[in-house]
Amino acid sequence: MPQTFDVEHVLANISEQDKIALLSGIDFWHTHPIPEFNVPSIRATDGPNGIRGTKFFAGIPAACLPCGTALGATWDRDLIYQAGELLGDECIAKGAHCWLGPTINMQRAPLGGRGFESFAEDPHLSGILAKSIILGCESKGVISTVKHFVGNDQEHERRAVDVLVTQRALREIYLRPFQIVARDAKPGALMTSYNKINGKHVVEDERMLNLIREEWKWNPLVMSDWYGTYTTIDSMNAGLDLEMPGVSRYRGKFIESAVQARLIKQSTVDARARKVLEFVKQASQVQVSEVERGRDLPEDRALNRKLCANSIVLLKNEGILPLPREIKKIALIGSHMKCPAISGGGSASLEPYYSVSLYDACREALPDAEVLYQVGAYAHKMLPVIDRLLSNAIIQFYNEPMCKERHLISTEPVSTTAFQFMDYYAPGLNRALFWATLIGDFTPDTSGIWDFGLSVFGTANLYIDDELVIDNTTSQTRGTAFFGKGTVEVLGSKELVAGTIYKVRIEFGSANTTTMKTVGMVNFGGGAASLGACLRMNREEMIENAVEAATEADYTILCTGLNKDWESEGFDRMHMDLPPGVDELISKVLKAAADKTVIVNQSGTPVTMPWADQARCIVQGWYGGNETGHGIADVLFGEVNPCAKLPLSWPVDVKHNPAYLNYASVGGRVLYGEDIYGGYRFYEKTGREVLFPFGHGLSYTTFNVSPNVTVAPEIFNMDVPTVATVQIKNTGKLAGAQILQLYISAPESSTPRPSKELHGFEKVFVQPGEEKTVNIQLDRYATSFWDEIEDMWKSEQGTYEVLIGTSSQEVVARGKFQVDRTSYWRGL
Ligand code: BGC
Repeated sequence: MPQTFDVEHVLANISEQDKIALLSGIDFWHTHPIPEFNVPSIRATDGPNGIRGTKFFAGIPAACLPCGTALGATWDRDLIYQAGELLGDECIAKGAHCWLGPTINMQRAPLGGRGFESFAEDPHLSGILAKSIILGCESKGVISTVKHFVGNDQEHERRAVDVLVTQRALREIYLRPFQIVARDAKPGALMTSYNKINGKHVVEDERMLNLIREEWKWNPLVMSDWYGTYTTIDSMNAGLDLEMPGVSRYRGKFIESAVQARLIKQSTVDARARKVLEFVKQASQVQVSEVERGRDLPEDRALNRKLCANSIVLLKNEGILPLPREIKKIALIGSHMKCPAISGGGSASLEPYYSVSLYDACREALPDAEVLYQVGAYAHKMLPVIDRLLSNAIIQFYNEPMCKERHLISTEPVSTTAFQFMDYYAPGLNRALFWATLIGDFTPDTSGIWDFGLSVFGTANLYIDDELVIDNTTSQTRGTAFFGKGTVEVLGSKELVAGTIYKVRIEFGSANTTTMKTVGMVNFGGGAASLGACLRMNREEMIENAVEAATEADYTILCTGLNKDWESEGFDRMHMDLPPGVDELISKVLKAAADKTVIVNQSGTPVTMPWADQARCIVQGWYGGNETGHGIADVLFGEVNPCAKLPLSWPVDVKHNPAYLNYASVGGRVLYGEDIYGGYRFYEKTGREVLFPFGHGLSYTTFNVSPNVTVAPEIFNMDVPTVATVQIKNTGKLAGAQILQLYISAPESSTPRPSKELHGFEKVFVQPGEEKTVNIQLDRYATSFWDEIEDMWKSEQGTYEVLIGTSSQEVVARGKFQVDRTSYWRGL
């Protein structure tokens, strides 16, 4: 058993310096230890869909789970609980006591760079799934850090933007998932967001932090987002316990001085240190691995595959899926066929144990079929990082630039041409200013002109066989890579011969060698670079080849979409379209072979589908983790009957979304002008058509739901759970699951309200011919809205409708209940 300590004893006996040192991290991932008192250093680690451990660079491989929106699409509490358990186990293997997840910000608009990390556009669904994943993770003893509290719903100017939002929308939409988590899971930690809410950074807003502790009676460790502590005095007094990461920028000696000046009370220092000690004590009870290691167990692979398959949403299917196993000739087309998108970018990305492509999974499913493979259209934003064509690659680190006499400090083997050094330490390396050289053998598999692209946070040049091919040092232009700190991708090209070994060399200068201004961005230090390469091909010819393959084959699967270069922390998407050329590819393939073509899209959030009417079959594949290929193939070939539903609305056009006029930071602020009408609440209220509604998803079987919902008791009592009951029957030939969604409508309300709001759901597994009774429980959240005049929740007298939907648009059963007396409440 780990040694333990008595919090009050430690607090009473440690030095003032140690007490203050507890209030900030000591490095990127660890808290301050006090060995004389058995107070260990606690390790925290990212992130939402997998546990990266302590290294962005040369990290230990990890399980990569489907992204947040994919998990959201399962609507499956039990499965998400198991995902939480897996994340807990992965933390333990990585020596981490604290998981920096889940992310429960809202997909206010489809273009949010981190939209893929969060579960859903609906606060109820988001909160309930967050609760499950937290309880799963914490059942392993690992503390979960729910994030980012609150309003980090866009990446643009995320540290500076002032979110102007009404109290009602804040309570009903943005705080609601945190409130559910506070009520049902009470995780051990909470991460504040970077942004302001109504004029004040949350990290130093006493009202916001008091709401958690006083109104909700939840007392987690409150830590800042990375470099998201901006002041010494205000953040201490507001209630921020831990500044992350270390070394401290705002605490340490500044706190000493602020206490002397009586700007911070000694009792405040004690309270924050006590909370950190309580957290350390709780966290240290879990026995974590001493060395950071991987696990990769067969049962984890199986769970990950199940998670992925259960997240795949069948958006449209006019008699094509499931595909027969007897296919003789299949065309496998698309950018994502051989290069699966397993996760979004930023702190969610990690080095996976492995990844399964849809191409390989289809070959497994159809071992005897003839396969016609075509890329059709590239879908990368940055040229793909070089990995499988790279060998003997190393990076050497120096404290001097290339032209000077240099002393080698360290050497690390690498398997790709992308690296981020924000948490890289080597004895003797000057982290503030260093240089590195990547050298490796590049062996192209096809002859022709190869394009190379180099982006950097810092400076970098590319040499091939000692010839300078790209200079990204002398003149630099800001781009979106590396959390928005990097340059654009600078291109160069060279004619190469297949099978010949070329020496690639990147001469890199660390972050501080950049000539670009970095105002308003998180400076993670260290620097980063990414080199990609791709054979130059003729666009028309690529499409023609794909169309030819689709025409010739018995069936075609076309898999394309976005990837972590398009959807990432650090920046928002500029538009909702698929990468250039992809729509044209899809349209032309559909024109030739729509009746035998399945379109699979991989993205974390919606994309425009101008060809949707032409398509007979559309599948949404998200970012699926290690098992992406298997998960998608399991659905395509009927191994798994699709049962996922969209956790967000899918607009036809980006201009239709409720936040369209008020997205991005303008003059330092963003107005949440759509108020409580986010996502389907907006589309329903305004009658605006969507391509696919919230909650939509098809199955290979059919269900019948009895049209009447019984609600008991009929008179709603806030202290007694109300239960809505319906019957469901599987009227098809296959076993399957239907997700019954319970929406509440309050037509008699004195205050404008959404046409319907999700307040319950149940995923029901039914055998063919089987009938089940389904009970869905309602609580006082279902009848309440935030009354801004009373500054309280108001459960209003009147008749409420209970609508059972198989999507937000498809209502299949109805019932009613009464609230016979208006009442107000606060708390949970
Ligand atoms: C992200 C957090 C993450 C942290 C540590 C920040 O940039 O916003 O979600 O946990 O970095 O990587």
